Amino acid sequence: MKRILTIDGMKAEARGQTAAGRTIGLVPTMGALHEGHLSLVRESRRSAAVTVVSVFVNPLQFGAGEDFTKYPRNLERDAALLEKEAVDFLFLPAADEMYPPGFQTTVEVAKLQKGLCGASRPGHFKGVATVVLKLLNIVRPDFAFFGQKDAQQAVVLRRLAADLNLDVAVRIMPIVREPDGLAMSSRNAYLKASDRQAAVVLSRSLAEARHAFETGERRASEITARVREIIAGEPAARVDYIETVGWPDLAGLDISDRGALVALAVKIGRTRLIDNTILTMKE
Ligand code: PAJ
Repeated sequence: MKRILTIDGMKAEARGQTAAGRTIGLVPTMGALHEGHLSLVRESRRSAAVTVVSVFVNPLQFGAGEDFTKYPRNLERDAALLEKEAVDFLFLPAADEMYPPGFQTTVEVAKLQKGLCGASRPGHFKGVATVVLKLLNIVRPDFAFFGQKDAQQAVVLRRLAADLNLDVAVRIMPIVREPDGLAMSSRNAYLKASDRQAAVVLSRSLAEARHAFETGERRASEITARVREIIAGEPAARVDYIETVGWPDLAGLDISDRGALVALAVKIGRTRLIDNTILTMKE
């Protein structure tokens, strides 16, 4: 695995691969890698000839008072994990090269960025869309891989790629969970033991949403209410939002003939966790 520290270096490597007729898969990450990230890496290895993983804790997507400075960073551990997955290139751009003095161009996906996490984290998706567009321009991959864990992010980025005519197929991969159901996240490292136990309430509440749906419930408000009730039973949990919206358009709905996304953000102690499930009509 080759480490690349500069934008020009990454462009040169990527253009060389493309010129040699090899397809490129890109997996953008902020590091502190876990099995969720690695599932994207493995899918890229299956789909593309060459895999690039970027590790960049993007300052532009963190709000004031959020965890940018304390976000877990462990480059050597990450590099060892990626080496094991036979990743070809590890791209580690520097913040002052990504955002040099005078930087002022950003991109926003106007509607999709608004609700859910966009409502409680203003500016977050602008930061995400901007950095991912930059990474896509630098690497020009054939495929880019994102997790359903961050479902709103994934549809924002798919929209970005379509609207701006990028030559990339955006792939969304399933949520990888701990054995007890907790969605894997770099932020799980913040949880102390009692909070780690309490955190299982998120996936438990979503299992109840799926159960309600599978037994015929079609009212979005009722599904949301059942989830809310289960979260309310966990004293350590404070709800940021719980919503049932259309999938993949994130528009309000009563579930009729299309899929729905049940998404939530809940604080367990001081740690904000997100999780979701997609309900799809089979008939
Ligand atoms: P990060 O949180 O490091 O996540 C990188 C990718 O891994 C995202 O696409 C995310 O959805 C996916 N991922 C995280 N946990 C997962 C899980 N349990 N199962 C499946 N996939 C999972 O998301 C970001 O970084 C950043 O916003 C980024 C896109 C890199 C832009 O800075």
